[in-house]
Amino acid sequence: MGKKGIFIVIEGLDGSGKTTQAKLLAKKLEKTHNVLLTAEPSCGKTGSFIREDCLYEDKRLPTEAEALLFAADRIEHMYSEVKPALENGKLVICDRYIYSSLAYQGSGGLSLEWIKTINARALQPDFSIFIDVPPERVIERLQRKKSVMETLETQQRVREVYLKYVAKGELVRVDGDRPKEVVAEELHAKVLGLLKSAKGLLID
Ligand code: TYD
Repeated sequence: MGKKGIFIVIEGLDGSGKTTQAKLLAKKLEKTHNVLLTAEPSCGKTGSFIREDCLYEDKRLPTEAEALLFAADRIEHMYSEVKPALENGKLVICDRYIYSSLAYQGSGGLSLEWIKTINARALQPDFSIFIDVPPERVIERLQRKKSVMETLETQQRVREVYLKYVAKGELVRVDGDRPKEVVAEELHAKVLGLLKSAKGLLID
């Protein structure tokens, strides 16, 4: 494939500030790197369908169907945006990726192995970061939002799955329960450290 860039994934609960942090990280890294900031569900056909038709209580599909749709969106997103950017040597920052499927659809009762299997064709990220905020805090922050995946119990189960991958060393945990500038500084420093350790992978 001739991948020359670096693929970084930012994960976290709804309301954890991961989207803000992904933006702040992109802004900081843009000074030194050619960056693509993107997200899942993506803006492609499948991602738009998910956003518009699947995320609200009255529109929920069976969890298996959700997992398949997120996996389909991931493949579409990979071909349309992620892979071309990596081939151009970009540093790709993706707000949510496979760990979101493992955490959300996994905590919804699906086997993590099956979720991995249906995502086996998607590119593996180089680094995956989990912005960790206690479920009680994200619930406070989410009062106004309508997304369906946000009750305290659900958030706790989702966080458990994320922490499982932190323990395995697949996700790097950043404490997100601090002022956003402090979190952003640490995240930036961590990513620079990771980039340094991966020196030679990145062309520019
Ligand atoms: P989110 O990034 O929180 O969207 P927004 O920026 O609009 O707040 O993602 C929307 C929801 O999709 C979120 O509740 C988590 C869920 N989701 C999954 O359940 N599985 C997945 O694989 C992905 C990518 C997202």
